[in-house]
Amino acid sequence: MDTIGVLGAGAMGSGIAQVAAAAGHKVILCDHLPTALSKASKGIQASMKALTERGKITDSEAYSLFSRIQFADHMSAFRDCSMIIEAIVEDIDAKQIAFKSMEAVVPESTILASNTSSLSISAMGAPLRHPERILGVHFFNPAPLMKLVEIIPALQTQSDIVERGKKLIDSWGKVTVIAKDTPGFIVNRVARPYYGEALRMLDEGIADIATIDWAMRDLAGFRMGPFELMDFIGNDINYAVTEVVFQNFYYDPRYKPSFTQKRLVDSHFFGRKSGRGFYDYRPDAVQPQPMQDKVLGAEIANRILVMLINEAADALHWRIASRDDIDLAMTRGVNYPKGLLAWADEIGIATVIERLDALYVEYLEDRYRCSPLLRKMHRQGQTFY
Ligand SMILES: NC(=O)c1ccc[n+]([C@@H]2O[C@H](COP(=O)([O-])OP(=O)(O)OC[C@H]3O[C@@H](n4cnc5c(N)ncnc54)[C@H](O)[C@@H]3O)[C@@H](O)[C@H]2O)c1
Repeated sequence: MDTIGVLGAGAMGSGIAQVAAAAGHKVILCDHLPTALSKASKGIQASMKALTERGKITDSEAYSLFSRIQFADHMSAFRDCSMIIEAIVEDIDAKQIAFKSMEAVVPESTILASNTSSLSISAMGAPLRHPERILGVHFFNPAPLMKLVEIIPALQTQSDIVERGKKLIDSWGKVTVIAKDTPGFIVNRVARPYYGEALRMLDEGIADIATIDWAMRDLAGFRMGPFELMDFIGNDINYAVTEVVFQNFYYDPRYKPSFTQKRLVDSHFFGRKSGRGFYDYRPDAVQPQPMQDKVLGAEIANRILVMLINEAADALHWRIASRDDIDLAMTRGVNYPKGLLAWADEIGIATVIERLDALYVEYLEDRYRCSPLLRKMHRQGQTFY
């Protein structure tokens, strides 16, 4: 079996190391901080304990999984790795330096992969002697539980590297999709309106958080409403992703962040983890109740849904990923009840366009522009499937 290297033993790196070791690989988990390594070791052991207690794996499987992970404080330990996945701080300079240092110790055939959520993979390859082996492999948090991995070839990546990387990660029981090296890849781009349009309706006073969450959960069938989900992800993290996507898309108004969420972050109302966010998680807090007005609920659900569909259609229009991969990413990566493009067919492309155009006419904002792909498909009487 190939030896897999993981650089950065934080939340993502330790989860990815566990996934690779569970698939039978020897794993070198490297971090420059000894405290990070001991925290990762304890975290993986706790995860093994939880799995054995729930009968998911036996004691001996847990023991051999853990013994396959070697903890290292220097990259020289990576010398026999056939793939290294970098999961250090989200900073392009730090990542470029790390990849250059790796290149000095590994053979030319080693795949150099990054778990970045927002940085350009092509920029990571630029300083390398062999940039053709750079690859984005974007796992979701927590890596052992989340099925989806986005595979992102850089401009420089050779096709056999993409195939090797994808095959390897498929063999770990993950669902892989291929995405173009563009801001937010698939999921973090297509999912933006779920938060952004909900915040917009809240800010306009169309409905309160409990009613919007109720509409999206109980009427549209999502697992969590947007505000519960933002509190669960952490408003600090969710806001930062929105801001990065907005900046990287040259300030396209479609991705504009919200002052309301920014003020929560400013106040350290991060959500569940800090005890307060959109909701109050303190023990005696009284929770707001939804209005459960079906007409209002349908208006909310339809508005968020067509904005999501528009985003998915536009991602296809700009060839960010294939139709199947866009739908797979949203159903397997963020548990959407249906693929958005399949959902568009179900609602009818004409209805989707009509709802988007009604928003555009109301606001006269570029944010509500309908994707040219939807218009073209409508003209030609096409459906996505
Ligand atoms: N947390 C998430 O939800 C999530 C999801 C997907 C992708 N990501 C991406 O994964 C990467 C890591 O995120 P995280 O949340 O695990 O971060 P984290 O802060 O939990 O862990 C980062 C680790 O990298 C180590 N590190 C930093 N610089 C290093 C260097 N030069 N050499 C060796 N080790 C170094 C740190 O000591 C730390 O242990 C980021 O690129 C992030 O954007 C995060």
